[in-house]
Amino acid sequence: MWKGIVIPMGLGWRGRPPVCHTYSSPMNDIESLELEARQAIVTSTDSQALREVESKFVKNGFQALMKTRMGEIKDPNEKRDFGKSINDAKARILQELSDRAEVLLAQERAQQFEAERIDVTMPGRKQAAGLEHVLQQTTNKIKRVLGGLGFEYRESPELELFKYNFDALNYPPDHPAMDDQDTFYIDSEHLLRTQCTAMQGRVFESVQPPLRMFTIGRTYRNEAVDRTHGHTFHQVDCFMIDENVSMANLKGTLGLFARAMFGDDVKVRFRPDFFPFVEPGVDYAISTPKLKGGDWVELGGAGLIHPNILEKYGIDTRRYSGFAFGLGVERIPMMAYGVDDLRHFLENDLRFLEQFRQRA
Ligand code: FA5
Repeated sequence: MWKGIVIPMGLGWRGRPPVCHTYSSPMNDIESLELEARQAIVTSTDSQALREVESKFVKNGFQALMKTRMGEIKDPNEKRDFGKSINDAKARILQELSDRAEVLLAQERAQQFEAERIDVTMPGRKQAAGLEHVLQQTTNKIKRVLGGLGFEYRESPELELFKYNFDALNYPPDHPAMDDQDTFYIDSEHLLRTQCTAMQGRVFESVQPPLRMFTIGRTYRNEAVDRTHGHTFHQVDCFMIDENVSMANLKGTLGLFARAMFGDDVKVRFRPDFFPFVEPGVDYAISTPKLKGGDWVELGGAGLIHPNILEKYGIDTRRYSGFAFGLGVERIPMMAYGVDDLRHFLENDLRFLEQFRQRA
């Protein structure tokens, strides 16, 4: 421990005793530095301030004192004592820094936990779950019903060749029936299909009867749009070829289909109609006491596949015959849920679509 007084050989003295300087001994310097550091430690209110205190006193203060004062002390014992004292003081300050750091860190953690506290008992945010579009729900139901009747589902292109959309379906060139199905042409051969019946030719080219197929998809027509007519809408088209297929099979199938889609009290009506690809051709309407006061609503067209088409694809008409029907998909939820304008289906208004959340 330092006891004596050493007169530093600093500037200003040059061998003469100091006259009126107040002299501070190296040991006093350590004490006052330690005191100052201690005060700075207790008054530090956060870890950042504490780090600054550490840097100021430990890294600079004690170190600098050691450097400047050591050179002034000549006596080796005193030198040793001074060095030890400074190291002891430094060690005490380091200990205090670490104790204070622990306290401050605990306080800061507590504050942070408080600020980020999660109340696990609070009700969670409701996730908005999507729902299947009502047309998709209808499509799924049609698939279940027709699949259950033994029909196989197939996809067919929306961008179709003129030859499948019209030629293959027995439309004579420039026949006025094509005017009813004016559409959007991509070039002289390609168009957006006007009817899902366009799949027939594609199937007949590659599949031999007996066969039962159906497709569901988007169709397009250059139409004056109104409540019941869109330029873009959906159709289901279904056909079968087998031995002895007759109108009775067609009516039976459409009767079953109507009951599965609309309930047991639905009535089905067939009236003669013309489509180039069926003979005889009918339109197909339904009525149910639950809706529209039991008024008849046309769902689509149907008939026995025209022998010209079967022959064109090499199908033996003495052995095989077939039926086909095609319906507008939108008409089904319109009927089932009393929707009065099919434009709602494609407008993506969630207030409209949400109504079908529970119905699937
Ligand atoms: C046809 O498209 C025939 N391919 C149906 C067919 C298939 C007949 C097989 C015979 C054998 P039509 O043009 O009538 O037929 O249309 C059938 C149904 O599609 C209509 O009854 C209607 O429900 C729906 N539909 C037709 N045009 C539109 C439209 N612009 N908007 C909404 N639905 C439509």
